[in-house]
Amino acid sequence: MGLLIKGGKIVNADASVIADVYCEDGVIKQIGTDLDVPSDAEVVDAAGKLVMPGGIDPHTHMQLPFMGTVASEDFYTGTAAALAGGTTMIIDFVIPDPQQPLMEAYETWMGWASRSVADYSFHVAVTWWDDSVYEDMGKLVNEHGVNSFKHFMAYKNAIMAEDETLVNSFNRCLELGAMPTVHAENGELVYHLQKKLLAAGLTGPEAHPLSRPTEVEGEAANRAIRIAQSLGVPLYLVHVSCQEAVDEIARARHEGQRVYGEVLAGHLELDDSVYRNEDWGAAAAHVMSPPFRPKKHQAVLWSALQGGTLQTTATDHCCFCAEQKAAGKDDFTKIPNGTAGVEDRLMILWDSGVNQGRLTENEFVSVASTNAAKIFNIYPRKGCVAVGSDADLVIWDANKEHLISAKTHHQNIDFNIFEGRTVKGAPDTTISQGKVVYANGELNVVEGAGNYVQRPAFPTIFDAVQKYNELHQPKGVER
Ligand code: URP
Ligand code: ZN
Ligand code: ZN
Ligand code: ZN
Repeated sequence: MGLLIKGGKIVNADASVIADVYCEDGVIKQIGTDLDVPSDAEVVDAAGKLVMPGGIDPHTHMQLPFMGTVASEDFYTGTAAALAGGTTMIIDFVIPDPQQPLMEAYETWMGWASRSVADYSFHVAVTWWDDSVYEDMGKLVNEHGVNSFKHFMAYKNAIMAEDETLVNSFNRCLELGAMPTVHAENGELVYHLQKKLLAAGLTGPEAHPLSRPTEVEGEAANRAIRIAQSLGVPLYLVHVSCQEAVDEIARARHEGQRVYGEVLAGHLELDDSVYRNEDWGAAAAHVMSPPFRPKKHQAVLWSALQGGTLQTTATDHCCFCAEQKAAGKDDFTKIPNGTAGVEDRLMILWDSGVNQGRLTENEFVSVASTNAAKIFNIYPRKGCVAVGSDADLVIWDANKEHLISAKTHHQNIDFNIFEGRTVKGAPDTTISQGKVVYANGELNVVEGAGNYVQRPAFPTIFDAVQKYNELHQPKGVER
């Protein structure tokens, strides 16, 4: 049965227009007024509301095995929570253990993700290097629709990628037409500072941000950007959290390098005072990496998002409940790193972005959905309200007030970093694959209904990248 969305204002990244949208078989079939649709079509009244492409969260970690435990949010609960917040697609991460074959890890994550209720895709982490990794990267790109690879420059003695791995993997990405991405923190420095802080008797969560100061991120951001520059590869930096990293990206972009940056809802809003909460549990609940930053950085991140130095927003949704965080009771380095937000991101972004005059409704769509779809090469299938696009939509009520709280959220975690905040602007209805999956505050989802989204290699930016590299080939001297 088809679905007709009537009378709403369609908001895309480029323009807004009042029109009806007719969806069938999971796809948008018609847009306009006085559409000719089957008489049995389900009708959703969107008058006075906005019809936008569903959010794309390009950075989540559902049921991630990490730091001796497993994230409490799985692909079923996590994608459902996403839908309740208007996000209709996630891009999660396959993270192989060092020495584990990439293909084996990929199959494991695909098994877990098959319970998803919304569409999903995967970046694959390169945590080590040898010829088999080189081969598997090719297989993932050419046979499995993976077009981005992640590199953790932090987490020494676990999943940290050394420069050797970065260079080899970035270069392989260039061959394959895939986007290299980095978690930019100097893991060696973090390790050193952690030891030093523990030795000085600082064992609580307040030591977490001290062990990962902004220069640690700035150094790694610069190193990754310079490696990418040397190799002629584009680069995407996940969870950019501070001025130092923003400055490196801005400089590189001003010099014509194709560098992209993502910012998390949490980093835009919270500062590092959360780690000094006298309640250990509340402080530990905010432990994530990079940490929340001293007060001036949030304004820098907002400006960078407004000005285009940063293009995407995400959450790094990675849930650990109080009893899991307690593993680090006597040693902050053992607190599992991660915070939630997949349900909250769009509301926070609207409330602090559009309501504060920082973003237009169209810019909101860009940073919530469209830009991620473009960078990861699924546009206009995703990230766009257009005929032929997937019918993944959110009907947004700009006047609806919503109190964010762990007591009422759908996320499978006992804490919310935005607890107690009332936002104005919230999803009225979420549509996934042409079906109403969230309306009147109720989810109506089907386990396993989510589809794996293959992302083709060689987004168009590679046309320019390859042409540029070709014209700048080293040339010998004719003698
Ligand atoms: O603290 C975080 N961010 N946990 C998840 C892993 C990562 O670094 O993205
Ligand atoms: Zn990270
Ligand atoms: Zn992450
Ligand atoms: Zn909710």
